[in-house]
Amino acid sequence: MLTYFTSAIFASLLLLLISTKSEGDELSVSRNSSLPLSDVDLLEFPLNLEYLEAEFFLWGSLGYGLDKVAPKLTAGGPPPVGGKKANLDPLTRDVILQFAYQEVGHLRAIKSTVKGFPRPLLDISAENFAKIINDAMKRTLIPPFDPYANGLNFLLASYIIPYVGLTGYVGANPQLQSFEAKRLVAGLLGVESAQDAVIRALLYERALQKVQPYDITVADFTDRISDLRNCIGKQGFKDEGLVVPVELGAEGRISGNVIAGDKDSVAYARSPEEILRIVYGTGNESIPGGFLPWGGDGRIARSCLKH
Ligand SMILES: *[C@@H]1O[C@H](CO)[C@@H](O)[C@H](O)[C@H]1NC(C)=O
Ligand SMILES: *[C@@H]1O[C@H](CO)[C@@H](O)[C@H](O)[C@H]1NC(C)=O
Repeated sequence: MLTYFTSAIFASLLLLLISTKSEGDELSVSRNSSLPLSDVDLLEFPLNLEYLEAEFFLWGSLGYGLDKVAPKLTAGGPPPVGGKKANLDPLTRDVILQFAYQEVGHLRAIKSTVKGFPRPLLDISAENFAKIINDAMKRTLIPPFDPYANGLNFLLASYIIPYVGLTGYVGANPQLQSFEAKRLVAGLLGVESAQDAVIRALLYERALQKVQPYDITVADFTDRISDLRNCIGKQGFKDEGLVVPVELGAEGRISGNVIAGDKDSVAYARSPEEILRIVYGTGNESIPGGFLPWGGDGRIARSCLKH
């Protein structure tokens, strides 16, 4: 009886071991990490945006980028095109420099969890921002919008970036399987959305001010940029400017919109494809351009490029 019992236990243990192993194979555990491959992909994808933010904020506040501040993190990827030191007031420079160093930390956090990839080619030139603003305004601004001209312009240009990362992290979260990936993404999301909130709050103070030399207010700039993202993301309404029709404000009761959110004030989610359409500026995840002239890296972005 005892022998029968013991061997039954032994057999079920053996089955358990076998089934655990085959489950592990099914998850395609990558060689150096215990993360499922799908988690690896979802953690590597945001590196594209984190590299972009790191370079834009470093260049804007310091006049140089990762090659000087954290060369190892570039893994030999090409230097960005068009970065330069912005003409920032002391408060904006202080805040942007903090963001810049935060992005360095984000890159390190991701790359110490997954292998990642070298810095992709990034276009952070004034011309690229001017083109995005022209697309948003549906006309050509004269003179062209220059993100590096002053603190307000740099904040408006910054409005273009962390929010996209934020929606990407919200979108990635429910797809993640492992505790480690969820913890990292929640941590990145927290700081990314805090950056977006700081940018929005600083702009909100000046919402009704005109952006010189244009006859366009700060609120209108944010509204147009958000509209453009809704349009080229192609998955509906997920982006809102600083002042909205009352029915789009919190609880449908207020037009001030210092923080974007859905009807329950819950953050919007975007898929990697939507994010690529937006950062490429082409509305098509297979056609690179914009901030990433050669396209993004990592399995998700590369597989979109093959189509
Ligand atoms: C695993 O680690 C080895 C040695 O550190 C390295 O050569 C290899 O590229 C790594 N592979 C992956 C998939 O990270
Ligand atoms: C995106 O671009 C690819 C490659 O040019 C093309 O085959 C595809 O039809 C485009 N998708 C859309 C929705 O326009």
